[in-house]
Amino acid sequence: ENLMLYDPGYMNTINCTSKISYIDGDKGILEYRGYPIEELAEKSTFLEVAFLLIYGELPTQSQKILWEQRILRHTYLHTDIGKMMQSFHYDAHPMGIVVSTMSAMSTFQAEQNPTLLVGIDPYSDPLVLNKQIHRILGRMPTVAAYAYRHRIGRPYNEPAQGLGYIENFFYMLDRLNETNYAPHPKLVRALDILFILHAEHELNCSTAAMRHLASSEVDVYTCVAGAAAALYGRKHGGANEAVLRMLEEIGSVENIPAFLDKVKIGKGRLMGFGHRVYKNYDPRAKIVKRLADDVFSICGKEPLIDIAVELERIALTDKYFIDRKLYPNVDFYTGVIYKSMGFPTDIFPVLFTIPRVAGWLAHWKEFHTDPENKIVRPRQNYIGYTTRHYIPISDRK
Ligand code: CMC
Repeated sequence: ENLMLYDPGYMNTINCTSKISYIDGDKGILEYRGYPIEELAEKSTFLEVAFLLIYGELPTQSQKILWEQRILRHTYLHTDIGKMMQSFHYDAHPMGIVVSTMSAMSTFQAEQNPTLLVGIDPYSDPLVLNKQIHRILGRMPTVAAYAYRHRIGRPYNEPAQGLGYIENFFYMLDRLNETNYAPHPKLVRALDILFILHAEHELNCSTAAMRHLASSEVDVYTCVAGAAAALYGRKHGGANEAVLRMLEEIGSVENIPAFLDKVKIGKGRLMGFGHRVYKNYDPRAKIVKRLADDVFSICGKEPLIDIAVELERIALTDKYFIDRKLYPNVDFYTGVIYKSMGFPTDIFPVLFTIPRVAGWLAHWKEFHTDPENKIVRPRQNYIGYTTRHYIPISDRK
């Protein structure tokens, strides 16, 4: 039976089975491999969560040590990659740099390209598969830090040895001192929690893109680049940057009603609000909101928080937002935290990309071990011309 459904945006299409994360959008529940996001944010670390997402279980003590060692051993970028990154324009958007660099990286790891591998199944050979996972997770913060250094016009800092994943990222951003470098532990923990919250979110636009690309069997670096490209957009991972620009544009609490009036007549959107799946408060947004005070206690209060809190309060009591079940999503409060930490606004989507790579890799692995997997190839409803015939240029009107 040839039953086709027209479903723009895949609002009602299930195109895979998955065991990675679970969302109950009406109740505002998110779980990774069955563990509630609140528990993971409180008790786990980003690297442990990455292991959980990719391999399905929390690591044992010895697995955790080995996993962290392997990832932290793969933080260096090839010198030529660094040179390539230097050739971007001085004001290139850091996400453009990240997307291009991940794509270029595939050409530096030719030995993992499925098309070139003879006699090895890259998806079942643990050496090939795990190696790429370690490399991508290990190098992602380095690519991000180089993109940041490029944006602020400073030389790149090579990864440090002996630091944790988050500490090393801070080090590459700033390298305040070379010996005994130790960023404030509360800031390290705050970024670790933000990374946990951003690590995975089932079939969001970039993860769907990851699975779409994986289905063609292109190499995993190119898949990550494609997923990052989808994340770059302001309706997805670019929303955190868009929220901050919106708060700056609003400028002060008195301007909120006029701003919301424009949104309600369709002139722009309230960025950081609304979600395809959550029709209730995004559980991640609640945790992020609480984190803000921790960060402010060290870095100083970011004044835009007052506009954000008031904007949320007014929107949540406004009929337009109530009727459409629009609540703050994860991106609503992250920008003010990142700003207080001193990050430039255009690096925000990059801070989302680093952890989301863990979710993408989990889906890449799951896709390739699923016996039901197929090349993703939706069908269309053709509404163009019926057959017509070529007209010589001299006869065209
Ligand atoms: N501000 C104002 N109105 C909105 C918003 C918003 N942020 N989001 C949805 N609506 C309205 C929309 O105009 C529509 O109204 P109507 O029925 O009158 O035409 C209704 O709500 C349904 O919206 P939709 O666009 O059909 O919903 P969707 O599921 O296709 O879109 C979304 C989901 C996240 C793209 C959308 O809510 C949005 O654009 N939000 C702002 C951008 C944003 O914050 N994105 C981050 C998403 S969460 C994390 C991530 O993925 O990065």
